[in-house]
Amino acid sequence: MPLPIFTAIADIRAAVTGKRVALVPTMGALHAGHAALIRAAAGEAEFVVVSVFVNPSQFGPTEDFAKYPRTMDADRVLCAEAGAHAIFAPKAEEMYPPGTVVFVEVPQLDTVLCGRSRPGHFRGVCTVVLKLFNIVQPEVAIFGAKDAQQSIILRKMVKDLNVPVRMQIEPTVREADGLALSSRNRYLSPDERAVAPRIRQALATIESLVDRGEKDVTLLESSLRVALTAIPGIRLDYAEIRDAENLSPMERLNRPALAAVAVFLGSTRLIDNVIL
Ligand code: PAJ
Repeated sequence: MPLPIFTAIADIRAAVTGKRVALVPTMGALHAGHAALIRAAAGEAEFVVVSVFVNPSQFGPTEDFAKYPRTMDADRVLCAEAGAHAIFAPKAEEMYPPGTVVFVEVPQLDTVLCGRSRPGHFRGVCTVVLKLFNIVQPEVAIFGAKDAQQSIILRKMVKDLNVPVRMQIEPTVREADGLALSSRNRYLSPDERAVAPRIRQALATIESLVDRGEKDVTLLESSLRVALTAIPGIRLDYAEIRDAENLSPMERLNRPALAAVAVFLGSTRLIDNVIL
């Protein structure tokens, strides 16, 4: 029997009632990175729900909402193979009926890194994820380390709003050449795809500096920027090192740090990060 797809909130609620649920929120166009989250979810609870919803409220007016890839038939197969029990794929009107006015605000944390070039993005992410939590009522929710700022902000939301969900973050899944898997990689031209692994290599450059004892954050950030801007066709959005817990700025590497980058290759925006 094919994996059930629920589109109505009332129907997914009925399907999860009385079950211990793990939720994997996604926007679809699923790849092996998402599959790893679903497999992890299957190890955590008896009933795994994957939400597939391209959330309009997290896209800016000039971003790729309309052309974001939608591949439900393939997503359904991937979800079933990875051990999911149901897909929740609501229409935008189901999630945001006319008259919706309340949103989750994320001051400060949403003005740095990705938030600076994507105003309102994390407000949209937090709002949809809290709505999904309220609809599916999972015991545990699984997210990927690839979207590091998203994971940090969602953890903070769960803490500040006392949301009764356990947050689990899984490592970034990469191609053999190091490129982090992303639904947006399919936008890359062959030339762009050929140079894309150099994003991970730039992060590796500073990892080895840190291994050799470098602790000066300004120096590490400038090494990272030099390595990134040497990639043909690249435009740097940001390359920064910040506190891995709360994204505050750092001068010395005296606690766990997040080295995070966002670049444009052509018109495709790619992000990656490592923990130092
Ligand atoms: P999406 O980009 O589809 O990602 C869904 C989940 O998959 C996120 O938790 C993301 O961190 C994780 N993920 C993506 N690529 C990964 C990779 N290469 N390795 C491991 N995990 C990876 O993130 C979103 O959707 C949305 O913002 C969402 C949270 C669903 C809210 O709309």
